[in-house]
Amino acid sequence: MYNLLKGKKGIIFGALDSNSIAWKVAERAHEEGAEFVLTNAPIAMRMGTINELAEKTGSQIIPADATSMEDIENLVEKSTEILGGKIDFVLHSIGMSVNVRKGKHYTDPKYDFTTKGWDVSAVSFHKVMNVLYNKNAMNEWGSIVALTYMAAQRVFPDYNDMADNKAYLESIARSFGYFFGRDHKVRVNTISQSPTATTAGQGVKGFDGFIKYAEEMSPLGNATALECADYTISLFSDLTKKVTLQNLFHDGGFSNMGVSTKIMDHFTE
Ligand SMILES: NC(=O)c1ccc[n+]([C@@H]2O[C@H](COP(=O)([O-])OP(=O)(O)OC[C@H]3O[C@@H](n4cnc5c(N)ncnc54)[C@H](O)[C@@H]3O)[C@@H](O)[C@H]2O)c1
Repeated sequence: MYNLLKGKKGIIFGALDSNSIAWKVAERAHEEGAEFVLTNAPIAMRMGTINELAEKTGSQIIPADATSMEDIENLVEKSTEILGGKIDFVLHSIGMSVNVRKGKHYTDPKYDFTTKGWDVSAVSFHKVMNVLYNKNAMNEWGSIVALTYMAAQRVFPDYNDMADNKAYLESIARSFGYFFGRDHKVRVNTISQSPTATTAGQGVKGFDGFIKYAEEMSPLGNATALECADYTISLFSDLTKKVTLQNLFHDGGFSNMGVSTKIMDHFTE
């Protein structure tokens, strides 16, 4: 590998199991010489296999519900202690819609569920940056990345209220990114990833058909979780120091397509 993250310290949110995008990011960050703390919601500790990842990457796990300021404060304090200094990179790889989970349609959600999903999927990013910014816990030229999806810009009916959550998340990246850049020289970006077969991805209704559609629509095919991890590593590295406030499409070209010959073949003989 390239030692792109040698000497860098990070916090990685959202590794649940080996399919998780955050899991691949942790493996790649480890290969590139980084040290980091892994974190996830307390319930995910029981559901997933994060211990295995911690062992493999020599990392410690600090449970934190990303909607709880208290948990995030504890996480950031302990992480700087464990890692012996300020943080260079943070991955926010968190998403969950209660309406999707409970089978509520977009046109008739339960608004308590809407609020909860928004807090977990979008506002948590603000909370994480609030703590990092106000505790002055990031090193200069650090990098913060959150994962998003193109339903923030275009209509994907089964993505439900996650579309709205992602639009909010991307806006937070720009708005908070301004202050983080101005005051701490830290960059903040979102990566808009192809559909990927993970626990969160497969929760979306019609996911199997949709992932095939995106594959046939994209000139380079869908981006895998590992490829997403590679791209994330480049954004954590010193090679992308002036990239900030961006929503970066990592989708094999899908986002700029109108139609592909493969898709057209389904409609012509
Ligand atoms: N899979 C896809 O098709 C796809 C496409 C584009 C973007 N994304 C985004 O990538 C990110 C990672 O998702 P994934 O596909 O790897 O799925 P995943 O299910 O492996 O990861 C989602 C993570 O969010 C965590 N989480 C949920 N509630 C939390 C809370 N309150 N506090 C802390 N963590 C919490 C879960 O425990 C889990 O680890 C999400 O933001 C998702 O929306 C996924």
